[in-house]
Amino acid sequence: MAKDFLGLSDAGGDVVAAMINDAIDRKAARHGWPKARPDADAPLAGHVLAMIFEKNSTRTRVSFDMAMRQLGGSALILEAGSTQIGRGESIADTARVLSRMVDAIMIRTDDHAKIEELAHYAEVPVINGLTDLSHPCQIVADLLTVVERGFALPGLQLAWLGDGNNVANSLIEAAGLMKFTIRIGGPAGYEPDAGFVARARAAGGEVILTQDARQAVAGAQVVVTDTWVSMGQAGGDAHVAAMQPYQVNSALMAAADPAAMFLHCLPAHRNEEVTDEVMDGPQSAVWDEAENRLHAQKSVLLWALGKL
Ligand code: CP
Ligand code: NVA
Repeated sequence: MAKDFLGLSDAGGDVVAAMINDAIDRKAARHGWPKARPDADAPLAGHVLAMIFEKNSTRTRVSFDMAMRQLGGSALILEAGSTQIGRGESIADTARVLSRMVDAIMIRTDDHAKIEELAHYAEVPVINGLTDLSHPCQIVADLLTVVERGFALPGLQLAWLGDGNNVANSLIEAAGLMKFTIRIGGPAGYEPDAGFVARARAAGGEVILTQDARQAVAGAQVVVTDTWVSMGQAGGDAHVAAMQPYQVNSALMAAADPAAMFLHCLPAHRNEEVTDEVMDGPQSAVWDEAENRLHAQKSVLLWALGKL
């Protein structure tokens, strides 16, 4: 049975904690090494990952490619538009064929139902590299960054500002698994997925929805935002106007815990959802967060391939 990583719950809280620990250890063990030199144990030697992209990506494609190299394996990139998927070959048949040739599949797509279908028909692990619904790999990297900065996950106070999007949904899932508090500050009509909220609360996370940005960040140790308009969303003037009160700027950061850190999965729209001052300021951990995509991806790959 292939171990798919369509959401954080596929792994569970204990495994996510183990992924973070493994990432910290592997990152430290290769500190200062040339970036493409394999880790000493090269645990995925001889393995290949296929990556399917139906949406743009910089971090996800580079981090998975480099993760495979550092684990001793290799990766190949399939731009969906230049494959037969782009001409209508079914997800199911694509899954069957790729399963005969590669050891794992990572896909970035729009409709979450597509990744579920791919996972259903694939005989190798399928990893979610972002769908319209969720972005779990990003959150493993985010949690790694939080832990690296000395914060404990259980009981953590985290604030999310702006659109209740795919990244927000996975962060809410993490709140349930790792038992922390997430306060979502955003406008009516742009709330996160109700199912993610309900499941996280049932799992023991505290999820608070508010339209008051200051209430969301009060006491927060981690302040997180993302683009106001995600890939594939229509956007428009009304959408962007509704987001304005949730911009993360110095005044809003001052309302959080004085030691709060700032996270953004990137790409950022500077001076829209976050000001330059915050992005480039002392509380920002966004470059560590971006680098940690690589270290987190390695743990996800190792788990999916039964080596963690
Ligand atoms: N954060 C993230 O997933 O970035 P990319 O879209 O560049 O992959
Ligand atoms: N929410 C953003 C994340 C990009 C990495 C999007 O889906 O476009």
